[in-house]
Amino acid sequence: MTPDESKHGMWSNRWLFVLAAAGSAVGLGNIWKFPYIAGENGGGVFVVAYLFCVALVGVPVMMAEVLIGRQGRQSPINSMRALVQQSDGSKAWSLIGWAGVLAGFLILSFYSVIAGWGLYYIGQLASGSFTGVDGAAAAQALAALHSNPVLMAVFHTVFMGITVYIVSRGVVSGLERAIRWLMPLLFILLIVLLGYGVASGGFAEGFDFMFGLKWDALSVDGLLVALGHAAFTLSIGMGAIMAYGAYVPSSVSITRTVITIAALDTVVALIAGLAIFSIVFANGLEPGSGPGLMFITVPLAFGQMPLGALFGGVFFILVSFAAITSAISLTEPAIAFLVEEYNAVRSRVAISLGAACWLLGLASVFSFNIWSDVYVVGEKTVFDSIDYLTANIMLPLGALFIALFAGYVLPKATVMSQLGITSKFAVAIWTTSTRVLAPLGVLIVFLYTILPID
Ligand code: PHE
Repeated sequence: MTPDESKHGMWSNRWLFVLAAAGSAVGLGNIWKFPYIAGENGGGVFVVAYLFCVALVGVPVMMAEVLIGRQGRQSPINSMRALVQQSDGSKAWSLIGWAGVLAGFLILSFYSVIAGWGLYYIGQLASGSFTGVDGAAAAQALAALHSNPVLMAVFHTVFMGITVYIVSRGVVSGLERAIRWLMPLLFILLIVLLGYGVASGGFAEGFDFMFGLKWDALSVDGLLVALGHAAFTLSIGMGAIMAYGAYVPSSVSITRTVITIAALDTVVALIAGLAIFSIVFANGLEPGSGPGLMFITVPLAFGQMPLGALFGGVFFILVSFAAITSAISLTEPAIAFLVEEYNAVRSRVAISLGAACWLLGLASVFSFNIWSDVYVVGEKTVFDSIDYLTANIMLPLGALFIALFAGYVLPKATVMSQLGITSKFAVAIWTTSTRVLAPLGVLIVFLYTILPID
């Protein structure tokens, strides 16, 4: 029998799980990464590919993660081990859990660096140094930050420190109260930003860029980036949602909850994208300008708004907060495992893991300055390489195997009782999604990327 409660704590109700999972999903992926990769990959067709991947791969895999977590009630590695035993599957399946721990570690190392930029920008905006600037000046301010490894390392350290502090206190108690208020506030400020975008006259062009289907704009690699981003933005494929699933009370409906989370995450990304591209086109900026896109457009917009220093400062506080709630979930699979396996003290585990991750993060800091011409693969810096390896390879592979595990290995009865599905139709949808659609989605994109088709 699997227990009804996890030893790491439990969410007090359905809504709090929605908030925590949405807190994990909504982060830099939505506000920073989505707009810039959509810009680099030509907009419209990329956005549609991403939406397809969210629906086809993201939703079923997220459901599978929650149900595996809730059935196992332990860290992803141990939940997988327990379920494999129950269903006589091969031990190799628990490699999914191990790979997830590694992916979480790698992602957090650069995530903390970018989140550090966000922390730095709180003070920059609040002090009014962006008031009235134009695009060139905003770009220059970011370039100045990038060329200063010490400054970047300082804010990377601050972000990692805050994350470790919260993680060491336990996810459940540490997160609940804060998420309840700050997430809705972030949403409101994104709407303000969008309102500015509309008023500035760039909305029509921004909208067309994001949803206009220019088929020749999507490259083969763009398709992989869209798939990888669907996994990244939903926090799936590495066990974060599985770890959180272990703390979900048995009465919660997985289907309804997962659809809510995926929808929330997608809406936030689309609003952020529309706001940022409106600003891009109103100011004659370049949509494909890369990872700096948000850090140039957003300060520019607030700099021109009445009360912009206040709103802008608050905006970056909220972005940093959204990043922290995601960062926490990146560590949870590893922390929960170490606590279970070695009976280790949570805070000690959190500090050691944070320290190691911080050290690796320095390589990403240097990717923007002293190591900017050190390439790992092709023309990719350390930062680019870790981002590519995790988002475009590790997470989609994780998602693929999680879907296969849920579809073929887990006993049907377990799955159906976890999901509370009885109708034949619903069973058919679930089985086709996990056995065929989601795996095929990932495989086709992979094959497309590997084979020399153009
Ligand atoms: N989903 C988070 C974001 O969009 C990042 C993340 C990825 C968090 C994977 C956990 C696991 O910012």
